[in-house]
Amino acid sequence: MEKEKLIIMKGIRKKFGAVVALDGVDFDVGHGEVVGLVGDNGAGKSTLVKILTGVYQPDEGEILLDGKKVAFESPTEARNAGIEAVHQYGGVVDTLDIARNFFIGREIVRKWGPFKFLDLKKMREESLKMVKKVGIQLRSEDALAATLSGGQRQAISIGRAMYFKARLVILDEPTNHLSIKEVDTVLDFVREIKKQGTSVIFVTHNIYHVYDVADRLVVLDRAKKIAEFMKTEVTPEDVIDTIRYGTVSRKSLRKE
Ligand SMILES: Nc1ncnc2c1ncn2[C@@H]1O[C@H](COP(=O)(O)OP(=O)(O)OP(=O)(O)O)[C@@H](O)[C@H]1O
Ligand SMILES: [Mg+2]
Repeated sequence: MEKEKLIIMKGIRKKFGAVVALDGVDFDVGHGEVVGLVGDNGAGKSTLVKILTGVYQPDEGEILLDGKKVAFESPTEARNAGIEAVHQYGGVVDTLDIARNFFIGREIVRKWGPFKFLDLKKMREESLKMVKKVGIQLRSEDALAATLSGGQRQAISIGRAMYFKARLVILDEPTNHLSIKEVDTVLDFVREIKKQGTSVIFVTHNIYHVYDVADRLVVLDRAKKIAEFMKTEVTPEDVIDTIRYGTVSRKSLRKE
Protein backbone atom coordinates (compact mmCIF):
# COMPACT_ATOMS: atom_id res chain seq x y z
CA MET A 1 0.00 0.00 0.00
CA GLU A 2 2.71 2.45 1.01
CA LYS A 3 4.64 1.79 -2.19
CA GLU A 4 1.65 2.95 -4.17
CA LYS A 5 2.20 6.47 -2.88
CA LEU A 6 5.01 8.64 -4.17
CA ILE A 7 5.35 10.52 -0.89
CA ILE A 8 4.19 9.73 2.61
CA MET A 9 4.87 12.13 5.47
CA LYS A 10 4.08 10.70 8.90
CA GLY A 11 3.68 12.48 12.21
CA ILE A 12 5.56 15.58 11.10
CA ARG A 13 6.29 17.98 13.94
CA LYS A 14 8.11 21.29 13.63
CA LYS A 15 8.61 24.07 16.15
CA PHE A 16 10.13 27.50 15.60
CA GLY A 17 11.09 28.58 19.11
CA ALA A 18 7.84 28.44 21.06
CA VAL A 19 5.68 28.36 17.91
CA VAL A 20 4.39 24.93 16.93
CA ALA A 21 4.16 25.17 13.14
CA LEU A 22 3.26 21.49 12.57
CA ASP A 23 1.82 19.27 15.27
CA GLY A 24 1.98 15.68 14.06
CA VAL A 25 0.82 16.02 10.46
CA ASP A 26 0.27 13.01 8.16
CA PHE A 27 0.28 13.89 4.49
CA ASP A 28 0.70 11.88 1.31
CA VAL A 29 0.78 12.28 -2.45
CA GLY A 30 0.02 9.59 -5.01
CA HIS A 31 1.69 9.08 -8.37
CA GLY A 32 0.37 11.60 -10.85
CA GLU A 33 -1.94 13.04 -8.22
CA VAL A 34 -2.58 16.75 -7.75
CA VAL A 35 -3.07 17.54 -4.06
CA GLY A 36 -4.34 20.95 -3.00
CA LEU A 37 -2.92 22.05 0.36
CA VAL A 38 -5.08 24.78 1.83
CA GLY A 39 -5.71 26.56 5.11
CA ASP A 40 -5.58 29.96 6.71
CA ASN A 41 -2.50 32.17 7.20
CA GLY A 42 0.01 30.52 9.49
CA ALA A 43 -1.65 27.09 9.30
CA GLY A 44 1.67 25.44 8.47
CA LYS A 45 1.35 24.87 4.71
CA SER A 46 4.65 26.42 3.65
CA THR A 47 6.47 24.78 6.55
CA LEU A 48 5.17 21.36 5.47
CA VAL A 49 6.30 21.79 1.88
CA LYS A 50 9.63 23.29 2.95
CA ILE A 51 10.26 20.14 4.97
CA LEU A 52 9.58 18.14 1.84
CA THR A 53 12.00 20.25 -0.22
CA GLY A 54 14.81 20.07 2.35
CA VAL A 55 14.62 23.73 3.40
CA TYR A 56 13.74 22.69 6.97
CA GLN A 57 14.26 19.43 8.81
CA PRO A 58 11.37 18.10 10.91
CA ASP A 59 11.77 17.78 14.69
CA GLU A 60 9.83 14.52 14.56
CA GLY A 61 8.23 12.34 11.95
CA GLU A 62 9.39 10.65 8.81
CA ILE A 63 9.22 10.95 5.05
CA LEU A 64 8.91 7.99 2.70
CA LEU A 65 9.62 8.30 -1.02
CA ASP A 66 8.39 5.25 -2.93
CA GLY A 67 8.06 3.52 0.43
CA LYS A 68 11.70 4.20 1.39
CA LYS A 69 12.69 6.48 4.23
CA VAL A 70 14.42 9.69 3.14
CA ALA A 71 15.77 12.77 4.94
CA PHE A 72 16.58 15.80 2.82
CA GLU A 73 19.26 17.99 4.32
CA SER A 74 19.02 20.61 1.58
CA PRO A 75 16.90 21.68 -1.41
CA THR A 76 19.61 20.22 -3.68
CA GLU A 77 19.13 16.79 -2.12
CA ALA A 78 15.36 17.01 -2.61
CA ARG A 79 15.86 18.16 -6.20
CA ASN A 80 18.18 15.26 -6.88
CA ALA A 81 15.40 12.96 -5.69
CA GLY A 82 13.05 14.59 -8.22
CA ILE A 83 11.25 17.06 -5.95
CA GLU A 84 11.13 20.57 -7.41
CA ALA A 85 9.68 23.65 -5.78
CA VAL A 86 8.19 26.50 -7.77
CA HIS A 87 8.29 29.56 -5.53
CA GLN A 88 5.97 32.48 -5.60
CA TYR A 89 8.63 34.71 -7.09
CA GLY A 90 10.09 31.96 -9.18
CA GLY A 91 13.01 31.15 -6.89
CA VAL A 92 15.32 32.88 -9.33
CA VAL A 93 18.44 34.96 -8.85
CA ASP A 94 17.89 38.57 -9.93
CA THR A 95 21.41 39.14 -11.23
CA LEU A 96 21.42 36.15 -13.60
CA ASP A 97 19.72 35.80 -16.98
CA ILE A 98 17.09 33.21 -17.87
CA ALA A 99 19.49 30.53 -19.08
CA ARG A 100 21.77 30.73 -16.04
CA ASN A 101 18.79 30.68 -13.68
CA PHE A 102 17.27 27.75 -15.50
CA PHE A 103 20.36 25.58 -15.15
CA ILE A 104 21.57 26.86 -11.79
CA GLY A 105 23.41 24.02 -10.03
CA ARG A 106 22.85 21.72 -13.02
CA GLU A 107 24.76 23.55 -15.74
CA ILE A 108 25.47 21.89 -19.06
CA VAL A 109 29.21 21.39 -19.24
CA ARG A 110 31.30 20.62 -22.32
CA LYS A 111 34.67 18.97 -22.17
CA TRP A 112 37.56 19.92 -24.40
CA GLY A 113 40.65 17.91 -23.63
CA PRO A 114 41.37 18.42 -19.95
CA PHE A 115 39.17 21.53 -19.88
CA LYS A 116 35.54 21.86 -18.90
CA PHE A 117 33.46 24.84 -19.74
CA LEU A 118 29.83 25.88 -19.60
CA ASP A 119 27.90 25.29 -22.77
CA LEU A 120 26.19 28.67 -22.71
CA LYS A 121 24.76 28.33 -26.21
CA LYS A 122 23.04 25.04 -25.44
CA MET A 123 21.81 26.29 -22.07
CA ARG A 124 20.34 29.36 -23.74
CA GLU A 125 18.60 27.35 -26.46
CA GLU A 126 17.19 24.71 -24.13
CA SER A 127 15.98 27.14 -21.48
CA LEU A 128 14.31 29.51 -23.92
CA LYS A 129 12.58 26.59 -25.62
CA MET A 130 11.13 25.40 -22.31
CA VAL A 131 10.14 28.85 -21.04
CA LYS A 132 8.33 29.48 -24.33
CA LYS A 133 6.65 26.09 -24.08
CA VAL A 134 5.26 27.13 -20.71
CA GLY A 135 3.56 29.86 -22.73
CA ILE A 136 5.12 33.00 -21.35
CA GLN A 137 6.01 35.82 -23.72
CA LEU A 138 9.42 37.34 -23.25
CA ARG A 139 10.30 40.84 -24.33
CA SER A 140 14.00 40.12 -24.24
CA GLU A 141 15.63 36.70 -24.26
CA ASP A 142 18.73 38.01 -22.54
CA ALA A 143 17.00 39.94 -19.78
CA LEU A 144 18.24 39.58 -16.23
CA ALA A 145 15.70 37.98 -13.91
CA ALA A 146 15.37 41.27 -12.00
CA THR A 147 13.47 42.77 -14.95
CA LEU A 148 10.98 39.90 -15.36
CA SER A 149 7.35 39.85 -14.19
CA GLY A 150 6.08 37.44 -11.56
CA GLY A 151 4.65 35.15 -14.23
CA GLN A 152 7.83 35.21 -16.28
CA ARG A 153 9.95 34.39 -13.25
CA GLN A 154 7.67 31.52 -12.39
CA ALA A 155 7.85 30.27 -15.96
CA ILE A 156 11.57 29.73 -15.44
CA SER A 157 11.07 27.37 -12.53
CA ILE A 158 8.05 25.71 -14.12
CA GLY A 159 10.01 25.09 -17.33
CA ARG A 160 12.90 23.84 -15.22
CA ALA A 161 10.70 21.29 -13.42
CA MET A 162 9.47 20.01 -16.78
CA TYR A 163 12.92 19.91 -18.36
CA PHE A 164 14.49 17.97 -15.51
CA LYS A 165 11.42 15.71 -15.36
CA ALA A 166 10.57 16.25 -11.73
CA ARG A 167 8.57 13.50 -10.05
CA LEU A 168 6.88 15.93 -7.69
CA VAL A 169 6.38 19.63 -8.31
CA ILE A 170 5.45 21.83 -5.38
CA LEU A 171 3.79 25.14 -6.11
CA ASP A 172 3.43 27.45 -3.08
CA GLU A 173 0.94 30.23 -3.83
CA PRO A 174 1.68 30.06 -7.56
CA THR A 175 -1.20 32.27 -8.62
CA ASN A 176 -0.69 35.17 -6.21
CA HIS A 177 -0.11 38.47 -7.97
CA LEU A 178 -0.54 36.94 -11.42
CA SER A 179 -2.69 38.36 -14.20
CA ILE A 180 -5.80 36.40 -15.24
CA LYS A 181 -3.99 35.04 -18.29
CA GLU A 182 -0.94 34.10 -16.28
CA VAL A 183 -3.16 32.23 -13.79
CA ASP A 184 -4.64 30.25 -16.69
CA THR A 185 -1.12 29.43 -17.85
CA VAL A 186 -0.15 28.11 -14.42
CA LEU A 187 -3.33 26.00 -14.17
CA ASP A 188 -2.70 24.63 -17.67
CA PHE A 189 0.82 23.79 -16.65
CA VAL A 190 -0.46 21.78 -13.68
CA ARG A 191 -2.79 19.82 -15.97
CA GLU A 192 0.06 19.28 -18.41
CA ILE A 193 2.55 17.86 -15.91
CA LYS A 194 -0.17 15.69 -14.39
CA LYS A 195 -0.64 14.20 -17.86
CA GLN A 196 3.09 13.42 -17.90
CA GLY A 197 2.56 11.44 -14.68
CA THR A 198 4.18 14.01 -12.40
CA SER A 199 2.63 14.59 -8.98
CA VAL A 200 1.81 18.09 -7.77
CA ILE A 201 1.27 19.81 -4.43
CA PHE A 202 -0.56 23.07 -4.96
CA VAL A 203 -0.56 25.40 -1.95
CA THR A 204 -2.95 28.31 -2.14
CA HIS A 205 -5.50 30.62 -0.56
CA ASN A 206 -7.49 30.63 -3.76
CA ILE A 207 -9.81 27.65 -3.42
CA TYR A 208 -11.29 28.18 -6.87
CA HIS A 209 -7.90 27.99 -8.56
CA VAL A 210 -6.90 24.79 -6.79
CA TYR A 211 -10.36 23.24 -7.10
CA ASP A 212 -9.99 23.52 -10.86
CA VAL A 213 -6.94 21.26 -10.99
CA ALA A 214 -6.77 19.18 -7.77
CA ASP A 215 -7.74 15.54 -7.31
CA ARG A 216 -7.71 15.82 -3.53
CA LEU A 217 -7.74 18.67 -1.02
CA VAL A 218 -6.04 18.68 2.38
CA VAL A 219 -6.92 21.33 4.94
CA LEU A 220 -4.45 22.44 7.61
CA ASP A 221 -5.61 24.48 10.56
CA ARG A 222 -3.24 25.78 13.23
CA ALA A 223 -0.54 23.17 12.72
CA LYS A 224 -2.93 20.22 12.33
CA LYS A 225 -4.59 18.47 9.45
CA ILE A 226 -8.31 18.85 10.00
CA ALA A 227 -9.78 17.54 6.76
CA GLU A 228 -9.02 15.64 3.60
CA PHE A 229 -11.48 15.51 0.72
CA MET A 230 -11.57 13.94 -2.69
CA LYS A 231 -12.52 16.80 -4.94
CA THR A 232 -15.55 14.91 -6.19
CA GLU A 233 -16.94 14.81 -2.62
CA VAL A 234 -17.05 18.55 -2.02
CA THR A 235 -17.85 21.92 -3.46
CA PRO A 236 -15.40 24.82 -3.26
CA GLU A 237 -17.77 26.36 -0.70
CA ASP A 238 -17.47 23.28 1.53
CA VAL A 239 -13.70 23.70 1.50
CA ILE A 240 -13.94 27.42 2.25
CA ASP A 241 -16.35 26.74 5.14
CA THR A 242 -14.01 24.09 6.52
CA ILE A 243 -11.20 26.63 6.60
CA ARG A 244 -13.50 29.34 7.99
CA TYR A 245 -14.93 27.25 10.85
CA GLY A 246 -11.88 25.05 11.49
CA THR A 247 -13.99 21.91 11.27
CA VAL A 248 -15.18 19.66 8.46
CA SER A 249 -18.00 21.25 6.57
CA ARG A 250 -19.76 19.39 3.82
CA LYS A 251 -23.20 20.63 2.89
CA SER A 252 -23.77 17.80 0.47
CA LEU A 253 -23.39 15.27 3.31
CA ARG A 254 -25.65 17.18 5.66
CA LYS A 255 -28.45 16.97 3.13
CA GLU A 256 -28.31 13.19 2.99
N1 LIG B 1 11.36 30.50 9.78
C1 LIG B 1 10.44 30.67 10.73
N2 LIG B 1 10.75 31.15 11.94
C2 LIG B 1 9.82 31.32 12.89
N3 LIG B 1 8.52 31.03 12.74
C3 LIG B 1 8.13 30.55 11.56
C4 LIG B 1 9.06 30.34 10.49
N4 LIG B 1 8.37 29.83 9.43
C5 LIG B 1 7.10 29.73 9.82
N5 LIG B 1 6.95 30.15 11.10
C6 LIG B 1 5.69 30.14 11.85
O1 LIG B 1 5.10 28.87 11.71
C7 LIG B 1 3.70 28.98 11.53
C8 LIG B 1 3.30 28.35 10.21
O2 LIG B 1 3.81 29.16 9.16
P1 LIG B 1 3.68 28.79 7.61
O3 LIG B 1 4.47 29.79 6.87
O4 LIG B 1 4.00 27.37 7.43
O5 LIG B 1 2.13 29.01 7.37
P2 LIG B 1 1.30 29.04 6.01
O6 LIG B 1 0.17 28.10 6.18
O7 LIG B 1 2.21 28.83 4.86
O8 LIG B 1 0.73 30.52 6.01
P3 LIG B 1 0.47 31.55 4.78
O9 LIG B 1 -0.84 31.13 4.20
O10 LIG B 1 0.39 32.86 5.44
O11 LIG B 1 1.61 31.43 3.82
C9 LIG B 1 3.37 30.45 11.64
O12 LIG B 1 2.98 30.73 12.95
C10 LIG B 1 4.67 31.11 11.29
O13 LIG B 1 4.76 32.37 11.91
MG1 LIG C 1 2.76 29.99 3.20
